[in-house]
Amino acid sequence: MNDLKGIILAGGLGKRLGPLTKITNKHLLPVYDRPMIYYPIETLVKAGIRDILIVTGGQHAGEFLRLLGNGQAFGLQHINYTYQEGEGGIAEALGLARHFAHGKKSAVILGDNIFEDDLKESVGRFRNQKKGARVLLKKVPDPQRFGVANLNGKKIFEIEEKPKRPKSDLAVTGVYLYDERVFEIIDTLKPSARGELEITDVNNAYLRKGELEYDILNGAWTDCGTFDSLLRANTLAAKRAKK
Ligand code: DAU
Repeated sequence: MNDLKGIILAGGLGKRLGPLTKITNKHLLPVYDRPMIYYPIETLVKAGIRDILIVTGGQHAGEFLRLLGNGQAFGLQHINYTYQEGEGGIAEALGLARHFAHGKKSAVILGDNIFEDDLKESVGRFRNQKKGARVLLKKVPDPQRFGVANLNGKKIFEIEEKPKRPKSDLAVTGVYLYDERVFEIIDTLKPSARGELEITDVNNAYLRKGELEYDILNGAWTDCGTFDSLLRANTLAAKRAKK
């Protein structure tokens, strides 16, 4: 069960949410009755992943330790932490987990992603997948905000990052299941036009090898990157809490 390493990416400066993020880290903002970072931790723990690293950054990284400690609130005995200087992108943040993943498969989740679904089934399928990567897709009304997966029959043939004219409505959500070779792929990446190492480039590298699998989520999903999606996240979390 504990073969998979859990990696939560909570770096970046959250500039799109200013002034909310002027004096704190985006992932410490409230989402209904809990800080945002609680949700990805719970998602991993519910999927049976207990060996967890949080990558954070900015000026308020110490607050994560104060808030979460060793993860007792989640039934954990220990949480690992590491620090990203600046905001060089999701794939750069993941690269900082190399020493932690140490030759094992990993389940990576973005610190601002809120899932209604239990991800156990996808994680189980990935455990049985011999090699490669697995992404989770969700039909959305605003695909231009996300990585978008274009399918040919049942296979993904390309992922486009924030296309102006999306060819499909399937967003790539912020859960990525990778084998141990992900760090070799990160080493080959070049910064994109927005100056970041893109996670979409990592996924496309697996795609070119013919090793990218996917599942489509049924339950609700949102990020918290904009005021509107943060509002949606609060509504979703409130509904979930009252269930
Ligand atoms: O939410 C899913 C989407 O996340 C995907 O569909 C996109 O393909 C992917 O690029 C990403 O899109 P965003 O542009 O919305 O990601 P954002 O820059 O908001 O970063 C999302 C989280 O990733 C953030 O809450 C913390 C982490 N992050 C981000 C950056 C840029 C880091 O840990 N370090 C970073 O440098």
